Amino acid sequence: MRKKIVAGNWKMNKTFSEAEDLLFGIADALGNGRPDNVEVVVCPPALYLELANDVATEHNFRCGAQNMSEHESGAYTGEISAAMLQSAGVEFVILGHSERRTYFGENDELIGKKVAQAIRHELTPIYCCGEVLAEREAGKHFEVVEAQVTGALSGLDAKAFSKVVIAYEPVWAIGTGRTATPQQAQEMHAFIRSVLAKIFGQKAAGDTTILYGGSCNAGNAKELFANSDVDGGLIGGASLKADEFVKIVNSF
Ligand code: 13P
Repeated sequence: MRKKIVAGNWKMNKTFSEAEDLLFGIADALGNGRPDNVEVVVCPPALYLELANDVATEHNFRCGAQNMSEHESGAYTGEISAAMLQSAGVEFVILGHSERRTYFGENDELIGKKVAQAIRHELTPIYCCGEVLAEREAGKHFEVVEAQVTGALSGLDAKAFSKVVIAYEPVWAIGTGRTATPQQAQEMHAFIRSVLAKIFGQKAAGDTTILYGGSCNAGNAKELFANSDVDGGLIGGASLKADEFVKIVNSF
């Protein structure tokens, strides 16, 4: 079902005590008022998920992991499974983030397996896609994003796909301070919906939540979220300060 979501991707930031401060800071700031039609998701490093889930349960927000294994269980040192996340009460998992693609060699085939595995364990995958600057400058951004969406998601059946949230994160906007314009975001989100309509049908495409990510902050969230195909944001740097993150939540 299409929803409004603001999700914070903490990436590899915060010590344990800093994570506690941020989680309780978010809880406090949300307590001062928030729109009731927006789902708030916090995605800390895996080590803090249990704590995060306790705080989230009490303060009406949700938790997500930043990655997980495509395997069910077994001899995969250092990995975390979908079953483990599910058993810890985690509801979301970010998959296919550009940093995973760039630094850890993840490709659409592997990410597609992770998406399917997440759904098997009733997690909501937040599937990330987006072009690099050279691809946009060469006018290939639509082609690249279509290939990513098709490559990782077209193997799902309609029921499984209905669980997927998509995040469009142009790589040139991530951590750079160079946000996509509201027009660029809307244009790509509408395009992603048209690609989904070809694979899964018009209704499924219309029901999909598509988030924008890439230098989204309290100053620009409102004009990004005002677009009809932008259903919220996946926030990096600006999710590391409770007040700023909750201002973004309140931008709807
Ligand atoms: P920034 O908001 O720091 O640009 O990061 C976006 C992102 O990668 C979220 O997943």
